Amino acid sequence: MSEPVLRTERLGRTYRMGRIEVPVLKGIDLSIGKGTFTLIVGHSGCGKSTLLHVMSLLDAPTEGRVLYDGQDAFAESSAWRQRVRNRRIGFVFQFYHLLPELTVLGNVMLPELIGHGPLAWLGVRRDARERAARMLDTVGLNDRMDFKPSRLSGGERQRAAIARALVHDPEIVFADEPTGNLDTRAGWQVFEMLRSLAIDRGKTVVMVTHDNRFIPEAQQVLYLEDGRIVDAEAAARLALKHERKGLL
Ligand SMILES: Nc1ncnc2c1ncn2[C@@H]1O[C@H](COP(=O)(O)OP(=O)(O)O)[C@@H](O)[C@H]1O
Ligand SMILES: [Mg+2]
Repeated sequence: MSEPVLRTERLGRTYRMGRIEVPVLKGIDLSIGKGTFTLIVGHSGCGKSTLLHVMSLLDAPTEGRVLYDGQDAFAESSAWRQRVRNRRIGFVFQFYHLLPELTVLGNVMLPELIGHGPLAWLGVRRDARERAARMLDTVGLNDRMDFKPSRLSGGERQRAAIARALVHDPEIVFADEPTGNLDTRAGWQVFEMLRSLAIDRGKTVVMVTHDNRFIPEAQQVLYLEDGRIVDAEAAARLALKHERKGLL
């Protein structure tokens, strides 16, 4: 594998609800190579979103470490983590999280404008607009820029969300079930778009899915089951068990 940009060591995340402890991640060791496309696969509730949120520094682990270029992210200040999040990371959500009252272009520009005071806005606005328009062009939405998200199809909304995640040119893109709400064709389009970010543009992409069809196309597949990484054979056995349970 190429040099790892991100690693986790014995990563754990336990939720506390009153006096009850719910361990969700149970000692995860993984390594993400620079410029690679990784899939994280597992059944609903096995901890995929929790893992992605901790890896992308949106949430803190309760045990273990997250290392960016060997640096322990949670030993650093929250300002350091914020900087990594803002500059190096892009995040794509299953439900797009586009703001309904803004146009597609406005949604994609927004991350560029946040962090600047109202006066600075005037200065950075044109730049941000140009970058956002270019990015929307790349994802094939150049004729949808002035639409509100409600007028777009699911696939178009997700492409707009990808444009928003990429507009600040992050090195690492995390996507949490980005095809979960899309039909087969739009799902493949979004998948291909994310995969090509790694293969053709050298970005590091980590995508979560419960859709097995994408597995043969990934450079690395991590199977998550009940908060642990398991090997492919164990994952296949478990998938069979889940399927049988669904049929009975
Ligand atoms: N904030 C939370 N508080 C308590 N339990 C949670 C919280 N978030 C997730 N969980 C639980 O953690 C488990 C894993 O959730 P999640 O990471 O969302 O799984 P997945 O994305 O694989 O479906 C689930 O059992 C879920 O109910
Ligand atoms: Mg999830």
